[in-house]
Amino acid sequence: LEKWVLMVTARTPTNIAVIKYWGKRDETLILPINDSISVTLDPSHLCTTTTVSVSPTFDHDRMWLNGKEISLQGGRFQSCLREIRARAQDVEDEKKGIKIKKEDWQKLHLHIASYNNFPTAAGLASSAAGLACLVFSLAKLMNLKEDNSQLSAIARQGSGSACRSLYGGFVKWDMGKEDNGSDSLAVQLADEKHWDELVIIIAVVSARQKETSSTSGMRDTVVTSALIEHRAKEVVPKRIVQMEDAIQKRDFPSFARLACTDSNQFHAVCLDTYPPIFYMNDTSHRIISCVEKWNRAEETPQVAYTFDAGPNAVMIARDRKTAALLLQRLLYNFPPQSDTDLDSYIIGDKSILQ
Ligand code: PMV
Repeated sequence: LEKWVLMVTARTPTNIAVIKYWGKRDETLILPINDSISVTLDPSHLCTTTTVSVSPTFDHDRMWLNGKEISLQGGRFQSCLREIRARAQDVEDEKKGIKIKKEDWQKLHLHIASYNNFPTAAGLASSAAGLACLVFSLAKLMNLKEDNSQLSAIARQGSGSACRSLYGGFVKWDMGKEDNGSDSLAVQLADEKHWDELVIIIAVVSARQKETSSTSGMRDTVVTSALIEHRAKEVVPKRIVQMEDAIQKRDFPSFARLACTDSNQFHAVCLDTYPPIFYMNDTSHRIISCVEKWNRAEETPQVAYTFDAGPNAVMIARDRKTAALLLQRLLYNFPPQSDTDLDSYIIGDKSILQ
């Protein structure tokens, strides 16, 4: 048996939706019922680092997450692996004397080691960073010719929101029209330099794993909520157009109003689900009140908030000065490790602490 190992390491940040994806029209292909828009975080903070390796000595595909072996048998991992292997190309590493023909990828096995530098499955989009990183690193290892948008359609089949982490900056996931999902992919609306005054602060209200997974939550919402159809058909399409416009113009008041109302409507459809889903807790609600009160006291909104499938608050401050003030207010009102239950803060931009 030949003894070589070929490896690739990639790092992918998570993304936070400012117009939310909630509800699938096809569960296997992961096709959503509405478009969504997100901000990809700075890679130095919430990110996944994945090393993928291939060797003729490996006898089956294996994966470790944060040092613990996990099963790759799930349908979603299998879809991603199958789609990537089907597009694999010849690979040659002259220095190591390695030559892999594209048909060999069907027989060769992989070892995948992935680390999240933030709580897994606590509503901080860990699956988004994880699946995007897995697809991207495998695509590099197997020398795929596809661009990031085409790779996003593969990552989507691992976890819907993962498709948006293939790009930095502001990203739209176009729901697409095709039944086979070929046009349900991510496009970059603006790169990371476009609106770099914004600072993201995440208050980790609880690092515990969420009780209702997004998969089962979405399924229940689509089947039982009377509001979800109105949201997907009437509300979100208009908000998508307005949000794209607010991002292009760096119009913070419109951006903040759209992000906050969309987060609140997402949690409203969760409450409208039967049995109801509560992702936010009392601390989350108190954070919303605190930001709303502040925004109302100023001439124009200073901070936007948004909550995913968990109680943790993602706050977007209009600039550094505001972010420093926000942090002061948060630390005063919600001291970490107190009875308000706040676990920690993750600051989107380290320099405000200096
Ligand atoms: O891709 P999933 O299954 O982790 O679902 C993500 C759903 C939300 O985070 C609540 C919204 C979104 O658009 O990311």
